[in-house]
Amino acid sequence: MSGPAPAPAAVIAGIGRYLPPDVVTNDDLSARLDTSDAWIRSRTGIASRHVVAPGTATSDLAVEAGRRALASAGGGAEAVVLATTTPDQPCPATAPLVADRLGLRGVAAFDVSSVCSGFLYGLATSAGLIASGTVGSVLLIAADAFTTIIDPEDRGTAVIFADGAGAVLLRAGRPDEPGAVGRVVLGSDGSLGGLIEVPAGGSRQRSSRIAPEPGEEFFRMRGRETFRHAVGRMTQSSRAALAAAGWDGPLAADRFAAHQANARILTAVAEELGIPAERRLSNIEWTGNTGAASLAVLLAEATARGTLKAGHRTLLTAFGGGLSWGATALLWPELKTFDD
Ligand code: UT7
Repeated sequence: MSGPAPAPAAVIAGIGRYLPPDVVTNDDLSARLDTSDAWIRSRTGIASRHVVAPGTATSDLAVEAGRRALASAGGGAEAVVLATTTPDQPCPATAPLVADRLGLRGVAAFDVSSVCSGFLYGLATSAGLIASGTVGSVLLIAADAFTTIIDPEDRGTAVIFADGAGAVLLRAGRPDEPGAVGRVVLGSDGSLGGLIEVPAGGSRQRSSRIAPEPGEEFFRMRGRETFRHAVGRMTQSSRAALAAAGWDGPLAADRFAAHQANARILTAVAEELGIPAERRLSNIEWTGNTGAASLAVLLAEATARGTLKAGHRTLLTAFGGGLSWGATALLWPELKTFDD
C-alpha cells in the first residue's frame, strides 16, 4: 500500500544578482571620514563597495536581480518573497511592487525581515510554501539599499555596509535532486537586539509622541560584541546544518559560503570549522557587506565566475540583527547565469 505522496522539495533552478553601478573606494571614504584604506582593508577586508545613486530604492535593485534569476531558470514564479532590511517604505511591503514590475501581478508577494540573515530565513520560508503545496515556484530575492540607513558620519558602519541584490528561483522537485533545499537551521536571540538596531521610526518611538533624537533614524551597531556573536552563531549553526544534512563533518563541504560581514569573521568561522582557504567563497573585497543580499549575491557571483559549480557540496551560513542566524547544506545544481 502506498502512503501519501512525499512533500515536494524546493529546488534552486535559477540565480541572478545586481550591484548598482556607483562604486565608493576606501580612499573616497577616507577623504571625508577619520579612517584610512589601510584600516578598512586590514580590519574588514573591504577595498570598495557598490552604492545606490540618489533616488534609487531597494525595489530597483530587487527587480534587476529577480529578472536575471527568472531568465536563468527560463520561467515565471507563483510567489515573490523579498528579504530586506530596507523596504522602499514602512508600509506596504516591497515584494508586491517588485512582483508587479517583473510582470508577476497577482502572485503571492511579501517581505521577510531578518536583516543579514534574510536570505536564509527567506529560503526556509520559500521552501515551506513549496512543501505545503501553496505554490509550485517562488522567486526569492534578497535586496538591500543598506547605505540609505547608514549614518554617513559613523566610521564604524559607513566603511562596511553597501548595496546590492541577489535572487534564486525555486521550483518544486525531489529532495534528492541537486539544488534541493533541505533543513535550514535557524535561530534568534532578541535579548541582544540592541547590538544592531535603528532606534527610531517604529511603533515604540512613534507611540511615545517624542520626536527622535538626531541620528536615531540611522542604523547603529556595537561592532566588537556583534563580531563575537557572529563567529559563535555561524560556527554553531554550520555544524548543526552539516549534521542535519548527514554530511561527515565540515571537510565534506566543497564550498563554504557565508554572509560577507567582515573578512576576519569569515576567516574565524572557517578556521573554527576547519574549512581550508581554497574552499571559502568571498567577494567582500569589492562588494562590502550588502546586508540581506550578501549571501545571495555571493552565490550568484561565484556561480557566474565558475568558483561554485554543479556538484559542489555547499555550506551556507548567515548572521545578523535580531540577533538572528542560520545555516544549511546543499548540493549545488547546474545553473545558467545571465549577469556578466
Ligand atoms: O552584518 C551583520 C553583522 N555585522 C557584523 O558581523 C560586523 C561585526 N563587526 C565588525 O565587523 C567589526 O567589529 C568592525 C569592523 C565594525 C570594527 O572592527 P574592530 O576590529 O572590532 O574595531 P573596534 O570597534 O574594536 O575598534 C578598534 C579601534 C577603535 O579605536 P581605539 O578605541 O582602539 O582607539 C575604533 O575607534 O578602531 C577604531 N575604529 C576605526 N579606525 C579607523 C573604528 N572604526 C574605524 C574606522 N577607521 N573606520
